[in-house]
Amino acid sequence: MLPLGARPVIQAVAEELIAAGVTDILLVTADTKRAIEDHFDPAGGLSPDDAPDETRDYGFPTDAAHFYAIRQGGALGLGHAVSCGEQFAGGEHFVVALGDCIMTGPEPLQRLVEAHRRHQADVSIVVQQVGREATKRYGIVAPGERLDETSLAMTDIVEKPGPDAAPSRYAVAARYVFSPALFDYIAALEPGLGGEIQLTDAIRAMLADGRKGVAVPLQPGEHRLDVGNIASYGRAFIRMMLTDPNFGEGLRTYTANLLAYLSDSNHRDPDLPTDS
Ligand code: G1P
Repeated sequence: MLPLGARPVIQAVAEELIAAGVTDILLVTADTKRAIEDHFDPAGGLSPDDAPDETRDYGFPTDAAHFYAIRQGGALGLGHAVSCGEQFAGGEHFVVALGDCIMTGPEPLQRLVEAHRRHQADVSIVVQQVGREATKRYGIVAPGERLDETSLAMTDIVEKPGPDAAPSRYAVAARYVFSPALFDYIAALEPGLGGEIQLTDAIRAMLADGRKGVAVPLQPGEHRLDVGNIASYGRAFIRMMLTDPNFGEGLRTYTANLLAYLSDSNHRDPDLPTDS
């Protein structure tokens, strides 16, 4: 529910899903996260109709998707969280979007869904290039041959390897599409890294079984913004505010003036009244 510009993070994720054609969204939450369920409650959540004035137009397409929620019942791992959606998926292919990351636009997820369909894959993942030292913070995929302009084959995946063990610098970027076969692989897992049921371990087992994996890299100009720690949340917030269609222009001017003032106090403090 952290705000990113004028929207909470979870809403930005929902809008990205809707733009990629997803119409039914299951929120996997916890007992301490009621605010998320309330937000999407058609009776209590925010909607354009509630907006008291135009500056509070959250632009949420309330009738564009149906929202459902389930509680995970403990921090048992990402694989376990995804397995909570087995019944909901109803034997169909489905998207997983991690709620602590947003994309700067819907295009990567749209490409992912298209590539998954085109290549009749069992698992498809948006990936991004990361620095050598950053591999230990992500799932890292081993890419195979190029499949087409936007996608690569994926032959293996490792959860948070050190730089020497990393099979590449392609990091899992928080958006996946799966065939329902995934659920049997999760059910067969023992706890992995951190004592948790790791989604990455289930994907690894699928690939080892010869199931088809596809990696879709972010293109230049596309970004995954992480809100999982204070520093990265700060960067994501600044980026979203500075690019906001309503507030961005004024804030860019303010920020430029503030930076000038902070590096040299001879510059005018932009928080002083203009007529002082
Ligand atoms: C999770 C996944 C990891 C992925 C990352 C992306 O890790 O386990 O493979 O690269 O999300 O945000 P977490 O950040 O939850 O530790």
